[in-house]
Amino acid sequence: MQNILVTGGAGFIGCNFVRYILEHSADIVVTVYDKLTYAGRLENLDAVKEGFGPRYLFVQGDICDAAKVEETVAARNVDTIVNFAAETHVDRSILDPDAFVKTDVYGTYVLLEAARNFGNLRFHQVSTDEVYGHIEGRRRSVEHDALAPRSPYSASKASADLFVNAYNITYDLPVTISRGANNIGPFQYPEKVVPLFVTNALESMPLPVFGDGMQMRDYQYVADHCAAIYLILLRGRIGELYNVGTGAEMTNLSMVEILLDELDRPRSLIQHVEDRLGHDRRYSLDVTKILALGWEPDYTPEEAIRATARWYRDNRWWWQPIRDGDFRDYYDTVYADRKRLEPQ
Ligand code: NAD
Ligand code: TYD
Repeated sequence: MQNILVTGGAGFIGCNFVRYILEHSADIVVTVYDKLTYAGRLENLDAVKEGFGPRYLFVQGDICDAAKVEETVAARNVDTIVNFAAETHVDRSILDPDAFVKTDVYGTYVLLEAARNFGNLRFHQVSTDEVYGHIEGRRRSVEHDALAPRSPYSASKASADLFVNAYNITYDLPVTISRGANNIGPFQYPEKVVPLFVTNALESMPLPVFGDGMQMRDYQYVADHCAAIYLILLRGRIGELYNVGTGAEMTNLSMVEILLDELDRPRSLIQHVEDRLGHDRRYSLDVTKILALGWEPDYTPEEAIRATARWYRDNRWWWQPIRDGDFRDYYDTVYADRKRLEPQ
């Protein structure tokens, strides 16, 4: 593993991953391949460009564009593809699933074909705990559980996982898949709940909690997730899946209280609103397998939420232009007419 193509590397997890691998190996050369959708931002990679110039190159392109993908793989002599590129927000997938099917399913297929056509390149797919669907009772999802996605986003990601697995079985493509819990940290587009609530709180706007706020998520720090993916690339078994999370989930209301406390903002900002359609109640990963590979998270969910809140508090330069731009239309579409619920 020397010449890595990181698709979706201008997005939230991708940009953190690029910095992580360049910092952790002096031999690696990275090509970021990204379409630069609303979620992909070149400024996310400014520090990488400055710190690692000769070992980093950015190519703007769509993963659905087979010719451009293959041209890039050839020109950069790529030996490993790590696929972060995706449409990623559940609420957007409810509004309009089209781009999710195109990028998350067809785009993954294009990358798999490129890997196959260039002599079976190493391929890692970044997937999500959402493919298991929501989990009842005290159960945790294990890697061999059946897939039961319930949103257009998770259905697209689950389909991609099935293709990745099929390419391993059919063509012997050396693949691995990681299924991550909710990531938080620097450079996450402020549509996702933690950066949305932190930036709303910093602007003294209400925090729109869907339904009763008792849904459960495992909020893991993005650097921990990046470390796990790097470890899987180095030591993961080909053809295997790995869940990645802290293994400790909390309710959305607990998450909100932690971030408000960290920012020293009042609980009166919490506003319960009409629930998301098909809202998954609980995700919960069994992480025994990734722990056995030698990975351990540095952050608890509470530490991750606090660190994230501080980063947004201290980096207004990054998120203010986003919130002042196209994001406003999106926010109005999703939230303006949303019914308010009585205090719970
Ligand atoms: P993100 O939305 O912040 O970034 C996605 C990136 O993909 C952007 O840079 C975007 O420009 C790029 N992209 C989108 N469509 C593209 C296309 N057709 N061609 C090329 N590039 C394209 O997403 P993220 O949160 O960084 O998530 C990265 C990956 O991790 C996704 O595959 C996601 O499903 C997975 N994941 C995310 C989380 C999470 O909590 N954010 C958790 C588990 C797994
Ligand atoms: P989100 O960040 O969209 O991730 P997920 O893909 O896990 O749904 O949302 C995390 C949780 O926060 C989820 O239970 C939905 C909830 N949520 C709200 O309550 N209000 C919001 O405005 C958003 C965006 C999410």
